[in-house]
Amino acid sequence: ALISLRQLLDHAAEHDYGMPAFNVNNMEQVLAIMKAAQKLDAPVILQASRGARSYAGDIMIKHMIMAVAEMYPDIPVCMHQDHGNSPATCLSAITANFSSVMMDGSLMEDAKTPADYDYNVEVTRKVTEMAHMVGVSVEGELGVLGSLETGMGEKEDGHGFEGKLDKEMLVTDPDQAADFVARTKVDALAVAIGTSHGAYKFSRKPTGDILAMDTIKKIHAKLPDTHLVMHGSSSVPQDLQDIINQYGGAMPQTYGVPVEEIVEGIKHGVRKINIDTDCRMAITGQIRKVFQETPAEFDPRKYLKPAQEAMQKICEQRYEQFGAAGMA
Ligand code: G3H
Ligand code: 13P
Ligand code: NA
Ligand code: ZN
Repeated sequence: ALISLRQLLDHAAEHDYGMPAFNVNNMEQVLAIMKAAQKLDAPVILQASRGARSYAGDIMIKHMIMAVAEMYPDIPVCMHQDHGNSPATCLSAITANFSSVMMDGSLMEDAKTPADYDYNVEVTRKVTEMAHMVGVSVEGELGVLGSLETGMGEKEDGHGFEGKLDKEMLVTDPDQAADFVARTKVDALAVAIGTSHGAYKFSRKPTGDILAMDTIKKIHAKLPDTHLVMHGSSSVPQDLQDIINQYGGAMPQTYGVPVEEIVEGIKHGVRKINIDTDCRMAITGQIRKVFQETPAEFDPRKYLKPAQEAMQKICEQRYEQFGAAGMA
């Protein structure tokens, strides 16, 4: 059976751990996460973006997730819509079996334009009203993800907006966060602290000027009972960059969010940590390796099995590092 995000994160808060939330759109990713969770006795958040839902189809996503819930009956699984862009998207997720939805009202429905505060409150409140009637949890987002190095806010496709944004938009305001949670009644709040989606987050190992962990502490001080969410939280490990580049890839040197910063966040109210890029890179590195080392091979299982194993390893590491091992 599925569990709501609220139930899962309340448990995480009670026991001081963080939950990695992994993005999924195919069988190998879902199996990699479940095998990691089973091995470490950890709960699971499987999240699907709008892109994932249209890639696999809602019926496939639903049955894939219910299939692993049936295969691993002792592991609590939350099925979460990542970055819903409108109340309609969130409602269609609920009808498609999701136990949790994110209403990302930090951007307008086109997911390309920053939204104003009143719009965000309005659409998010509408979603919590609907979702809570049927026991579904809601994550909201306040502040626009983007780079404090360049001032570029992030559209959904990972490219910057036209023109620079003020730091005020790229870092969540703690007072506004308190007002937002009171008015929307969200179960979890995603905050902007200088992270962005994808592999290219920072041009150097981030320090306090470009990764605003102090903001997490201020928000947690104002909202001690609100579960905070960090997006764009892949660590983009050097070894995964190296494997990809060693086997014919061409990824420019880049830096992600250090695991030790996330662990610090978990001490200050961070309960959900969104990770997609690290898993994508783990998979791609192994596929490149098999292709380069055995170019005559053409059975997809020959490269999807090592790909799945590499993703499982990343998932196991994050479960251990965030303290979620043993918590299922
Ligand atoms: O929000 C970003 C996640 O990494 C999902 O990405 O929209 O390409 O599926 P996607
Ligand atoms: P990464 O691109 O850092 O993995 O972030 C994923 C994310 O925030 C999904 O919502
Ligand atoms: Na999310
Ligand atoms: Zn995100």
